[in-house]
Order: sequence, then C-alpha cells, then structure tokens
Amino acid sequence: MGFNAKRHLEKIQLVEEYVRQHKVDIAKHPWREHYHFQASVGWMNDPHGLIQFQGKFHLFYQHHPFSGKWGTMHWGHAISEDLIHWEHQPEALAPSEDYDGWEGGGIFTGSAIVHQDELVLFYTGCAQDRQVQCMASSSDGYSFAKSNHNPILADPPSGINPHDFRDPKVWRQGDCWYMVTGVTDGVSDLIEPSNCQRNGLGKVCLHRSRDLKNWEFINYLVESHGELGTMLECPNFFPLDGKWVLMYSPMGLHDRQVIYLTGDFDEKTGKFHWHTMGSVDWGFDYYAPQHFCDDRGRDLLMAWVGSWPFMPWCRGNYDTSDLGWYGSITLPRQIRLCPDGKLASEPVSEIERLRENEQYYLPCVIHESEAFPFIAGDGVHCEIIASFDLQETSAKRIVFRLRGSRNQETKLEFDLVRGEMIFDRTRSGNISALQRKCLLESASQSKLNIRIFLDSISIEIFTDGGRTTMTNNIFSSPESNQLSISAFGGSARLLGLRTYGLRSSMIE
Ligand code: FRU
Repeated sequence: MGFNAKRHLEKIQLVEEYVRQHKVDIAKHPWREHYHFQASVGWMNDPHGLIQFQGKFHLFYQHHPFSGKWGTMHWGHAISEDLIHWEHQPEALAPSEDYDGWEGGGIFTGSAIVHQDELVLFYTGCAQDRQVQCMASSSDGYSFAKSNHNPILADPPSGINPHDFRDPKVWRQGDCWYMVTGVTDGVSDLIEPSNCQRNGLGKVCLHRSRDLKNWEFINYLVESHGELGTMLECPNFFPLDGKWVLMYSPMGLHDRQVIYLTGDFDEKTGKFHWHTMGSVDWGFDYYAPQHFCDDRGRDLLMAWVGSWPFMPWCRGNYDTSDLGWYGSITLPRQIRLCPDGKLASEPVSEIERLRENEQYYLPCVIHESEAFPFIAGDGVHCEIIASFDLQETSAKRIVFRLRGSRNQETKLEFDLVRGEMIFDRTRSGNISALQRKCLLESASQSKLNIRIFLDSISIEIFTDGGRTTMTNNIFSSPESNQLSISAFGGSARLLGLRTYGLRSSMIE
C-alpha cells in the first residue's frame, strides 16, 4: 500500500518542533528522573526495537509527544554507547499511512533486527478497523523508510479479534524468520487500550517467513484457558540457558503484570510446552519488558516504568500527565535462568559508572524500635545495598523507611514470619496510594540481601538473588529524603550496608 515519505517527514518535523518548544521547561521539574530514561516531552510507554546496531544501542519507545496522556502513537528514539547515557534522536516513525493509523491509534509496539546491514523495524499499525503488522528499515539507524509491502501481515488467524493482533517480536532461527504476536478472541476497544473490556482467551501467535515479507501462520505457542490472561501483550520468545522463555504482559490477571513461562519449544508443531511460571517483577509500575542480546552475548531486559488505568488497582489520573509527560524506562537488567526454571535479574554493571560518595556502615545490631538512620547520596538519587544475617536476627519484620519527611514516607517491609516483601506507598504522595506484597524467598534462608535504586520518582528493588524484583513509582516531594532501617518484634543483625549517590546520566 506504499509509503508517503513526504507526509512521514512532515509529521516527524512537527514532533521535533513541539519537542524543541517544550523540553527546556519540562526538564526543570524536580520529578524528572536523573538516570532512568524518559522521553524529553510527552507520554511514553513500552520500550521496543531494542538492539545493538553498528556498535551502538538503540532504544525506541511508544511515544505520544503532544501531551502527557496516551494518544496517536509514534516511535520515539534514543541511542547509547553504554546502555546508561542515552541521547535523544528525532522521532523514528510517525503515523503517515492508512494502514498505520495516521488518523487513529498510530504506530504500536514492535521489535528490531539487523538484516543485510540494515536496521529493520517491525511494528503494529493501529488502523481504523484492525491492527496489522508492518516493516520499516534504515541503513544508517537514524532515518527510516516504511516498506512498500506494508502491511506485511494484515490478517490474524481466523477467530481472532482483528483489533487485538499486535506487538510483533521477530527473530532469526535456522533459515527462517519467526514472529510472535499477542492476540485474543475476546472483544476490545481498538483505539483506546485503557478502555479495553475483555472476556476472551489470550494467545500468542507464531508466524514464519523466509523473506520477511510473506508470513505463514504456524500455531499458537500458548493458549490461555483463563490462567494466562485475556490478552497477552508484548510477547517475547527466546532461548535462555538451555530452555525457552515466553514473557508477556497479560490483561486480565489482576496484579500479575508481567509473566514468564519457561519450558521447551517444539519447532515442528510450533507449540511451547512450559513447566514453570513466574512474575518478572511484582511492582505496580513494571510493564511490557522487551528482551534483546548485546554483542557480548548478554541477555538483557528493559521495561516501561508506568501502568495503565485498565489495571484493576489503578485509581484515577496519572500523577504527571498534567505536567505534559509521563513514563520512564527501567535500568537495563541482565537476566539468567536458575536451575529450577526461575528467572533472576540484576541491573547491568555499567550502572556503577554513575556512583559517587560511597558510604560504608560497619556491621551492627539494629535494636527493636530504634531506627537506624543512614545516608545515601542526596537520599533521592541513590543506590542502597544491605545484607542481614537472619540466623542472628530475632526481629519479625525489618522495615526500610525511604523518602521520609514530616508528611511523607515510603515503606519497604521484609516480613520474616509471613515470608513477604511489602511495598507501601500509602504515604508517598501518589494518587494510587497503595500497598503491594509478594513472596520473599530469603525469609526461610540464612541471609537477606537487598539492593535498592532510588531516582526522582521511581524505586527498583532486587532481592532473593534477583529472583524477586519490584518497580514502583512514588511521587514524593523532593524534600522527602530521609532514610532509615527499623526492626520490629526483636533485633536485626546488619552484616553490611553500602550506599552511593548516583549521578545524572542525561545528555542534552
Ligand atoms: C502495551 C501496549 C501494547 C501496544 C501499545 C500501545 O503497553 O498496550 O500492546 O502495542 O501499548 O501504545
């Protein structure tokens, strides 16, 4: 159906002009992140098209530049040498065709490959009456042309709702290209994902191609009978440490936001036989992770720090939308598979380049109800690494008080009796002021190791050797910067506490 290059360029220029006018004011707000990537202006959600091309890392993301709310989507673009310092680029893709929703939903989530020295992007065009899969390419990695063959995949398999056929993730295997997409047989609202009312069963479609233009349907990798979700957004399917992993962001699974399944792939039938299920992250604000491998062979994940109003626990508006922006991206995480089929992750070591002002606290006992105050950078942009000897701990609960002040605090609690980690943002300042709990495996072990990253409005928490993680937004005032640890129901033996301030990674 062709490509209107002139209209595409004009649309990109419109965005550039808008960004130029608004980015300086937006950058001044104290809630802007210091070392988590954000669009310089506007709404952002899913990171996608993550790839290393000609040595540089490319990050594309769902972008609605013209307001702090979701709207007709574009692909924002940034480039990095080290996964930490990202340089904003002009928009990579703007909706310009009927098939990619230039008057509708726009250009949805997708993925990237390198083929014949070109950077090739796959995305969903959210047209008026359906979602279709499309392709665009670039030889320099900066300016992209949409394929004349678009849409390369216009129809979902029969019985699938054509309004819910999206998020192509493409990879090479043997002589073929494979693509997974998320689908449902239920009903939905095409243009506004937050209005989605689904009662169907989610599935992950597997297609195959030899030339990237013609795609044949192979099978459903998995089909939900209720237990996997009603619509499986942003699927990723990849080999990891001898097994296959299917990772996706389900609708209809309550507070299970991002699921992984590990198992074996039957290439002949196109079926995935999984045996282990887990949550990639337990936070309120972790969604749509994308997997990619770098030139060093590392398996990496980046995800959206944000959440949709369709999530059952979400209450009302976004905290920053009226400021003209929303959303950020997690630190890049390196993942591995544990022998029991569970996934473990940790931030890439490059993050350590931002460290400054190391503080080291000697081992000590934290007595019941005597708060142990400590310092980590400015208390707002920092890293905290703590370790407890649980054999020498009689406390029932160990509680971190983060971002504290007279009126605000965020509590991170380790309940050693119930075996739970509890994140409490009821007094953080958020509109969705809530508590979230998950299993804490370390409660039954001899040590509890915790690593926390605080940025202006986000917290990433890693424990259980990276098997349990939580990512949450907190909208506290910048003056809320006190930190302390308390023990309840006994004392806690602190083996070590190391902290760092983290420098800003923003490049203008
Ligand atoms: C996930 C998602 C995708 C879709 C995109 C639209 O967050 O709903 O399924 O492609 O966002 O912005």
